[in-house]
Amino acid sequence: MKLALGVTGGVAAYKAAELVRRLQNEKLDVQVVMTRAAQEFITPLTFAALTGQKVITDIFATAGSGPANVESAIEHIAVAQRIDLLLVAPATADILGKFAHGIAEDFLSTLYLATKAPVVVAPAMNVNMWEHPATQQNLTALRARGVHVVDPDEGYLACGMTGAGRLAATESIVKKVCEVLGLRHDFTGQTVLVTAGPTCESLDPVRFLTNRSSGKMGYALAEAAHRRGARVILVSGPTDLKIPQGVDWVPVRSTEQMQRSVLERAREANVAIMAAAVSDFRPAAEQDKKIKRGDGTFTLELEPTPDILAELGREKGNRILVGFAAETNNVAENARGKLLRKAADMIVANDVTQAGAGFDTDTNIVTLFLRDGRELALPQLNKFDVANRILDQVLDIQKHSK
Ligand code: C5P
Repeated sequence: MKLALGVTGGVAAYKAAELVRRLQNEKLDVQVVMTRAAQEFITPLTFAALTGQKVITDIFATAGSGPANVESAIEHIAVAQRIDLLLVAPATADILGKFAHGIAEDFLSTLYLATKAPVVVAPAMNVNMWEHPATQQNLTALRARGVHVVDPDEGYLACGMTGAGRLAATESIVKKVCEVLGLRHDFTGQTVLVTAGPTCESLDPVRFLTNRSSGKMGYALAEAAHRRGARVILVSGPTDLKIPQGVDWVPVRSTEQMQRSVLERAREANVAIMAAAVSDFRPAAEQDKKIKRGDGTFTLELEPTPDILAELGREKGNRILVGFAAETNNVAENARGKLLRKAADMIVANDVTQAGAGFDTDTNIVTLFLRDGRELALPQLNKFDVANRILDQVLDIQKHSK
């Protein structure tokens, strides 16, 4: 996983070198971004040597790359899209002010605006600067926006004063980063099979039936399970999403292909989560030539597809089985029915007509229906958080079935 570490101009900048090493111990790939002031305290060379990567030091020219060029000018966008997290340690009052007010005048402040990755800041400064209402208001604004703040420690400060403002301990910063990234070890030793995306059922060589599934929920599940230490098999219908790193990715197109891959790979898995929006019907016959326009109406005959989840339910054994129910009406009733019909341990149901839920959104609003009759209604969360809540519940089921 890739992380950008912003280093800003404070005495504590030297501590960022140790931080890089600790982050690397967590198998994180660190790209260092330094502000101009930071380079007064520690040289880019230190970080380049530690990370084996060039250090980004300016918006229009990167270290050693000579004069400004188009490539370096758009680099912040490339970095912004590549990273899984932006950490700033130490974060000065100045950078917090820039972040809070959307000022993008150097690489780091531009990166903050350009990235959708979560942001963690570890402030360090003089106690009066820390306590100043301007700094505190900036922090309140950042927290409200979802930025994670690792509060500074109290103690002796480089300026000779004593109080809050000392950069938090390296361990506290690393712990927060792992927490935000969902890096845990509670799925170590488990193999999780996830299905994701839509399926496509061909009518003829150029046409097919599909649905609005983006695959985001299934990919979030695969990513979350991987970050929690599981071996992950992701059987995916066609999507535009980036293939999660470290995951065994199995691309498929039709329900039949998905069925084949799932049944084959399920033997390896002790948890199966079927998040794919599988076609329930397919054309009864696929034409080998393009269907021509006729004068009258055209009737398409559809046949049911195999229900993969139900098939897994029939040979369940100890495997935990989770299904999804995307509904437009009678959500609870349909979900309960599916729980029994498909012999699943859990059904994750959502009303896809609700804003912020369902297809092609980054968030979801779901209710988890469990075998023991419990219904857990989750608030609107991003799909990665929904994925983790589902995985928490899988662990809970496993714990109680021992
Ligand atoms: O019955 P329905 O299609 O609404 O059930 C949804 C659940 O069943 C999802 O978990 C989906 O992945 C799974 N499913 C399946 N095979 C099908 C249809 C649905 O595995 N042919």
